[in-house]
Amino acid sequence: MKPHRKRRNSSRQGNRVRQGAAQAADVRSRVGPGSCLNGSGPLFHPEDGEKRVKNMGIREKYQITEYCHRYLRDYIREGDVCVDATAGNGGDTEFLCRMAGAGGRVYAFDIQEQALRSTAERLERAGLRGRAELICAGHEQMREYVKEPAAAAVFNLGYLPGGDHTLATRAETTLEAAGQALELLRPGGILSLCIYSGGDTGYEERDALLSWLKKLDTRRWLVIVNSFYNRKNDPPLPVFVIRLE
Ligand SMILES: C[S@@+](CC[C@H](N)C(=O)[O-])C[C@H]1O[C@@H](n2cnc3c(N)ncnc32)[C@H](O)[C@@H]1O
Repeated sequence: MKPHRKRRNSSRQGNRVRQGAAQAADVRSRVGPGSCLNGSGPLFHPEDGEKRVKNMGIREKYQITEYCHRYLRDYIREGDVCVDATAGNGGDTEFLCRMAGAGGRVYAFDIQEQALRSTAERLERAGLRGRAELICAGHEQMREYVKEPAAAAVFNLGYLPGGDHTLATRAETTLEAAGQALELLRPGGILSLCIYSGGDTGYEERDALLSWLKKLDTRRWLVIVNSFYNRKNDPPLPVFVIRLE
């Protein structure tokens, strides 16, 4: 979501992350995977709502999260492990749960209990709750929770829609988490980033990510930066990083 917020000071952020970690023990909900399927299922899972996407208007199809989902579909198979680094209201978590199927597992992180509650409710309604582990901790702690190679890691940056705008993602922790996510990816896996900038958000997180992405080793990573080129006012950037080997 495009943040419109004042810049935060770093001590507040530090407290926030520490609180998130402390809350993790209370809130983390670990649910085992459902029935086991092998990893050779179809790329387009019937539950993924292909029909829904076909019925969308053209503008909706190119809304950034929908655009990223369309790209991600090619990289996720039934039974895969996926990471949602910013659960928020659960839109991406739900998508990943559908793509990974009953035998897959989705690790979803957020620092806000409110976000994880909303994600849990969304998954319950969709009958997908058993496919996800909801983890109340900063995504910069990802490697402590995810031990298996992942097919996809998704970062939808910014703040919780309808929530506290000061609890948005920020450059330092996002960079740390994105680095960990890359190392978790299996060869052929994908990292997807929805990057917002401008307004109260400023440009720090976007600029830090773009300069980090530029330096990624070309033998290991393919980086694709998309842009809604003729849109005004700092349109969001959909970015994909594919693990080559
Ligand atoms: C734009 S929202 C995510 C939207 C979400 N993917 C969806 O589909 O609704 C960004 C989320 O990142 C969370 N966040 C901020 N800093 C974080 C951190 N260090 N680790 C994990 N989540 C964080 C915020 O609490 C917020 O819920």
